Amino acid sequence: MSSKRKFISIKTTIPGPVAKELLKKKEKHVPKGPFNTMLTFAEKGDGALLTDVDGNTFIDLAGAIGSLNVGHCPPQVVNAIKNQAEHYIHTSFHVMMYESYIKLAETLNELTPGDYPKKTFFMNSGAEAVENAIKIARKFTGRKAILSFDRGFHGRTYMSMSLTSKVKPYKYEFGPFVPETYKLPYPYYYRSNKTEREVDNEILANISDFFLGEVPPEEVAAFILEPVQGEGGFVIPSTYFVQELKKICEQYGILLIADEVQTGFGRTGRYFAMEHFDVMPDLITMSKSIAAGFPISAVTGKSEIMDAAGIGEIGGTYGGSPLGCVAALEVIKMIKSEGLLERSTHIGKVLITHFKRLKEKYPFIGDVRGLGAMVAIELIKPGTNKIPAKEVTSTILKKVQNKGVILMGAGLYGNVIRVLSPLVITDEQLLEALDVIEEVVSEEFANIHEY
Ligand SMILES: Cc1ncc(COP(=O)(O)O)c(C=O)c1O
Repeated sequence: MSSKRKFISIKTTIPGPVAKELLKKKEKHVPKGPFNTMLTFAEKGDGALLTDVDGNTFIDLAGAIGSLNVGHCPPQVVNAIKNQAEHYIHTSFHVMMYESYIKLAETLNELTPGDYPKKTFFMNSGAEAVENAIKIARKFTGRKAILSFDRGFHGRTYMSMSLTSKVKPYKYEFGPFVPETYKLPYPYYYRSNKTEREVDNEILANISDFFLGEVPPEEVAAFILEPVQGEGGFVIPSTYFVQELKKICEQYGILLIADEVQTGFGRTGRYFAMEHFDVMPDLITMSKSIAAGFPISAVTGKSEIMDAAGIGEIGGTYGGSPLGCVAALEVIKMIKSEGLLERSTHIGKVLITHFKRLKEKYPFIGDVRGLGAMVAIELIKPGTNKIPAKEVTSTILKKVQNKGVILMGAGLYGNVIRVLSPLVITDEQLLEALDVIEEVVSEEFANIHEY
């Protein structure tokens, strides 16, 4: 079936027989709410490869939704976790502290943008990091309103869901939402006929109107911004926009929270995407690739802001697990020692070049965009005014997955294909995956009349 492939090995239909049995059990015992991109089950991960329970090996361009910048099971991280587990698995930082928590906080305080004293504390998931950043922002400013952006995604807990801006499936029938949360437009240059600067200025003017018409700036605690929108479709704002937003924040004493849960740890070719814009946020939320897939998250911020919450006001039993802390310390070493920031930039260039070539050939690819290795294509109905091509996007994703490449969609309209591959993917693996994508894209383009 995949004889010309060196890394991909698809031996069964997906799901294969073993996976089918597990799926039956899953349907019986697990609610249908948690979604699954691949209808199969993992057996073994290694770098950018993932093998399922039926012995099918896939090239992984999803990296557990961007959690695996250092790839599956890097030996340094596995050894650190094993070694830690042999000493103690958990003491709860609130009961007996451990050095790795302090070391990781110190490391992130140095690594994150901003040349002022910082402090960091840890939780378990991206949504929890967002929740806590908001708690700290409200406590520090004594203000209530939190402003997020259209198409933003910040998680599935009540506050993070309230800040999120896609109704189905994230918010539908889950209201009422947390009060004092508001959404404002975020630049989406591809979907506008105006120049970048016009789009930015219109949105900035809109913020001024919002302060007049909705909430005065002195009641706003924070803006929360994804420096590149992730679930929203890898939408990238201009440096001008981010810098002007920061100026507005400074003018009114509003905090700027950078949600770097998806963009962090080398994804965009820098440790943090905010570095591209030369803007220092007051608080940064991190998770996903921080610890090679181990569930841990962090909020880092200016010391005086982070210290606003009093003793016991923030935290949680498992926050900053010892296993997560040692894993994260190894991940950070690995990003340095393996040159993964440079690798991210290189992967981005390969992807952009390849996708731009496809865009020339297949006009249903409307846009190709990216920052470092955070790259996406947006599909439209050819010959229309950029009408989103949701169905063809889902078909392409499914076919690519069945041919051995794990790939995910994104975007408010479900018409974006995003790449979040491990940064340790080799050029050969990347080109093989791109070859599969091209094969499917050309097949689907030939079938376009069906859509
Ligand atoms: C920017 C951003 N913030 C927050 C989250 C929520 O993270 P988690 O799923 O770990 O709660 C995500 C998840 O995709 C994200 O992309």
